[in-house]
Amino acid sequence: MTEDLQSIERDFSQSLEQVKNLKELEELRVRFLGKKGTLTLSLRSIGSLPASERPGFGEEVNQLRRSFEDSLTKQKSKLEDDAISQSLSQNCLDVTMPGRKRSGGSLHPLRQVENELVKAFQSLGFSVETGPEIETDFYNFEALNFPQDHPARDMQDTFFLSDGRVLRTHTSPVQVRLMESKKPPLQVIVPGRVYRHDSDVTHSPVFHQVEGLCVGPDVSFAHLKGSLEAFVKMIFGSNAKVRFRPSFFPFTEPSAEIDVMGPKGWMEILGCGMVDPNVFQKVGASWEERGEDSPYDPEEISGFAFGIGVERIAMILHGIDNIKSFYENDQRFLSQFV
Ligand code: DAH
Repeated sequence: MTEDLQSIERDFSQSLEQVKNLKELEELRVRFLGKKGTLTLSLRSIGSLPASERPGFGEEVNQLRRSFEDSLTKQKSKLEDDAISQSLSQNCLDVTMPGRKRSGGSLHPLRQVENELVKAFQSLGFSVETGPEIETDFYNFEALNFPQDHPARDMQDTFFLSDGRVLRTHTSPVQVRLMESKKPPLQVIVPGRVYRHDSDVTHSPVFHQVEGLCVGPDVSFAHLKGSLEAFVKMIFGSNAKVRFRPSFFPFTEPSAEIDVMGPKGWMEILGCGMVDPNVFQKVGASWEERGEDSPYDPEEISGFAFGIGVERIAMILHGIDNIKSFYENDQRFLSQFV
């Protein structure tokens, strides 16, 4: 090899050792192998050599070019690997970390219980209806036999709107709406939200009821008892501790309540009774105002009704002692009901 080539090779190896990154490596490549690179230019001196030495010289330059290219490629992949490991260690990417778990949505425990109640009554032949949450005094009280200024209105702490309407205090007004618009026989349940100015561990200003109404020519208290006992057994099982207790509601006569043994003793789960003839009379007046004969003549028709507290049932079923747990949206509570 000529001295020139030897010195180019030395220069190349020394420079290659100093290269610290890909940019410097590229600069080195251009310096030796580029169009005006040292090795490329050395070929130009071939003209000054005797003709016999030219092929040998050309061959040496080509060998050197290949060996430079080889070293450059090796150095390039080494620098690239270094760059990757450096970035990995700086960004602290731990590929062994477990992935994030995605949790699926599920129905709220109150909705789950409401669905169970609805299913139980559907199996007894009831169908589902709904009604408005903002009611007039007529539907919420008057037509349900709560006379103006009657103390029975104190049983329900009502939220009044400025126009005199109310947030319904119970689902019972839907009974009246249904009987005003449909002829008997009726066998319906009405799940829905209700509102009362009341708040402690078993009362919430917003809560849920499932109203029931069964009206026909010969509906008796025996039907009421049979249906509600069947319902209680479906929900709480045949061994549940249950009691029927006489009670009072303006819109039923006679009236009763059902208690079930809960986490803190007896808990009232529903009110019920035989539809009061005064309610049939109010409903009948609406039919007559429209110029039709009332199909709800109290002499010919009878019915039973009930109103169930959904929260109460959910509290007993799941052993929950504070009604507020349902509304706080605490994932630790809700995820138990997935
Ligand atoms: N509306 C009553 C309440 O909210 C519950 C109730 C009792 C509904 C007796 C009825 C019934 O339909 O017959 O306290």
